[in-house]
Amino acid sequence: MDDFVKRYGPVALVTGASSGIGRAFAGQLAARGLDVVLVARRRDRLEELARTLRDTHGVSPTVLPVDLADPAAGKEILDAVARLEVGLLVSNAGFGVKGAFGEEDAAVLSSMLAVNCHAPTQLAHGLAPRLAQRGHGGVIFTSSVEGLMGCPYSAGYSATKAYVNALGEALWAELGPRGVDVLTLCPGATDTEAPRLQGIDPATLQDLMSPDDVARSALDHLGSGPTHIPSAHYRKVFDALLSMPRTEALTSMASSVRKVSQGPRADRAGDA
Ligand SMILES: NC(=O)c1ccc[n+]([C@@H]2O[C@H](COP(=O)([O-])OP(=O)(O)OC[C@H]3O[C@@H](n4cnc5c(N)ncnc54)[C@H](OP(=O)(O)O)[C@@H]3O)[C@@H](O)[C@H]2O)c1
Repeated sequence: MDDFVKRYGPVALVTGASSGIGRAFAGQLAARGLDVVLVARRRDRLEELARTLRDTHGVSPTVLPVDLADPAAGKEILDAVARLEVGLLVSNAGFGVKGAFGEEDAAVLSSMLAVNCHAPTQLAHGLAPRLAQRGHGGVIFTSSVEGLMGCPYSAGYSATKAYVNALGEALWAELGPRGVDVLTLCPGATDTEAPRLQGIDPATLQDLMSPDDVARSALDHLGSGPTHIPSAHYRKVFDALLSMPRTEALTSMASSVRKVSQGPRADRAGDA
């Protein structure tokens, strides 16, 4: 059995597996020989993916259609995997809302907090003791470069991802000594359904990565947390921003977002 399967197998739980980065994670984990539990709302997408992974890689995927905005979703998933030996949690599902704070629908904001913060916390809370007891395993949280500093016109989303970054960093320090690798993945713009769902044409985004490249980069860096920015471009942008005095960095970010809202989005320093 190869080292990756020994360390993180036999089963990986992947949320947001019906599309984009989560679907790419599920495919690459199955290719590495792990069984996968596929979580998202769209059952048809999950079932189609499960069939493909079974036929292509000979693994035995489990399909779990769950709405992570439901506060009870974490418990439902943990109950469903209670008898499986989950060695890797990929907490990836999430979505964003763009625009002036206060103009978005309050109910959508609540769902975003539940999906982006509550569900990852509940899943990590249920699985961390099991992983630590085994003495090996991993957790990947898909956050965003927008979690690295407050992004105007994306305030709620940016704040949810800052929460994920703090959770991931804390668990990296807490679980690392117990043999569990924790990585907080901070993608920049990625070519998934997410930009289109927010009314953004992906062609206008700078240094767009494919979801496959983002997932591969995360899996290759799983033991090198606490955080990982897969795009060289966004690493450079955020290294520069984070080395500035905070007010200067925030002013620079705000002016880049203002420029973007008046013209092409190409120099936007954030994700979709
Ligand atoms: N694309 C980017 O530019 C970018 C950049 C930085 C970070 N990210 C982060 O990357 C992660 C994956 O996003 P993506 O870009 O791959 O977008 P995507 O293609 O829209 O995929 C989002 C996934 O999350 C699932 N999801 C959303 N709401 C859900 C809910 N209420 N219950 C269960 N599952 C739900 C979706 O499944 P269903 O719709 O089937 O439920 C889908 O599988 C997110 O956390 C996002 O914030 C994306």
